Amino acid sequence: MTNSTQRALKRALHHAEAYLAGLEGRSVATTASLEELRARLGGELGRQGLDSVQVIDELVAATEGGILGSAGGRFFAWVIGGALPSALAADWLVSTWDQNAAVFACSPAAAVVEEVAGRWLKDVLDLPVEASFAFTTGCQLAHFVGLASARHAVLRDVDWDVNEAGLFSAPPIRVLVSQHRHGSIDRACRFLGFGSRNLTALDVDAAGQVTTRALENALAGDRAPTIVVLDAADLNIAAFDSFETLIPIAKAAGAWVHVDGAFGLFARASRSRRRLLAGVEKADSWATDAHKWLNVPFDCGVAFVRDPEAHRAAMTLSVDYLATDGLARDQMDWNPEWSRRARGFGVYAALRELGRDGLEQVIDRCCECAEALVTGIGALPGAEVLWRPHLNQGLIRFLDPRPGAREADHDAWTDAVIERVNATGEAFFSGTTWQGRRAMRVSVVNWRTGPDDVSRAVAAVEAVLQDS
Ligand SMILES: Cc1ncc(COP(=O)(O)O)c(C=O)c1O
Repeated sequence: MTNSTQRALKRALHHAEAYLAGLEGRSVATTASLEELRARLGGELGRQGLDSVQVIDELVAATEGGILGSAGGRFFAWVIGGALPSALAADWLVSTWDQNAAVFACSPAAAVVEEVAGRWLKDVLDLPVEASFAFTTGCQLAHFVGLASARHAVLRDVDWDVNEAGLFSAPPIRVLVSQHRHGSIDRACRFLGFGSRNLTALDVDAAGQVTTRALENALAGDRAPTIVVLDAADLNIAAFDSFETLIPIAKAAGAWVHVDGAFGLFARASRSRRRLLAGVEKADSWATDAHKWLNVPFDCGVAFVRDPEAHRAAMTLSVDYLATDGLARDQMDWNPEWSRRARGFGVYAALRELGRDGLEQVIDRCCECAEALVTGIGALPGAEVLWRPHLNQGLIRFLDPRPGAREADHDAWTDAVIERVNATGEAFFSGTTWQGRRAMRVSVVNWRTGPDDVSRAVAAVEAVLQDS
């Protein structure tokens, strides 16, 4: 090892340890402005290179206040997981080993680790053993993989080879999606050339679930090539579609069913919560994230496809392309990228560190903390619970205390309270619009979150409401 590498790594370890040790006391929100960050990090690139340690030290100093505290236990915005110790350390090794996880020949260990991690994931998520899988950058690209496989299969069923003939004169594909779908579904559909005009949004009921009638109506008529996308936990209230009812209806119409389980699919690992996903195993493809509830460092999503032939045909460079006599798994046969990071290592480490019981405990603890947060904050004067978590997501609204306040005032007040709570640095939440009203979303997926974090977050909201 050159002296420069050794010194830079030691420095990085020093900064990383200091960062993690300070998580409890550090502001969860960022404190540096855009202008400050640009001023500190910008300027012209010099002609002369710098010492590696100086680069690292100055990087840490210049980013101070610009790093959001999502690694800690009091970050409840969007759906953002932390990093388990072994997954974080494994990720450092991934950079150290600097493997190109494109094919087995480029890194046999990366290929085999991915093969094993994929099998373990299917096992803990209770998905079909025959399903193939791909480790992607996130759920967005996992949707792309699942829906590309779907596109291949539904066109193959009408004797259209999309790889060879493309889409220009292909039979139209209709895509039926939930009204509550995540935007990453629309984006994946766009990448795949479906066009937003060919997406039909299915009505949902008060619980956010696609109704049977909406699906049946949409499927009535001719048997066009069809893809149905269902939710295994939507972003706001973790609504699960009724897989047991809807998937058989879709299948009877010859449709391919894809499931967005970015975080919700992991509820399969909890014995007390897996009922929410009854029947999900009957789908054709599933997309999830390891960087959410599995607490692997960014980035890592995973796609699973029941029909490996369709999956491989959609992704591989050539169906005849085999680097190793077909004995080893070449990631490029299943992934959209060519060169890529060895994402399997973090997943492998996280699963081994937790084991089945540990994973279940993380899921259950997050759900209990979400419930405690919503109960604690919801009990404060001026707070109204809009959605009590049945999993890890809840919604709270804050009512403008002024006499005669209207809905628009409550909306503005809710956003103002979120901003003030975040400004305390004690906890961090994000806002959302649900059923036409603004709300504060509570999302818990970080392995670090525990009862102390809940108490501190509730106290922070209470202090803001008292001062307002
Ligand atoms: C339900 C759902 N689907 C998809 C995504 C997109 O996931 P990613 O950001 O990993 O691409 C998210 C992100 O929060 C999500 O909550």
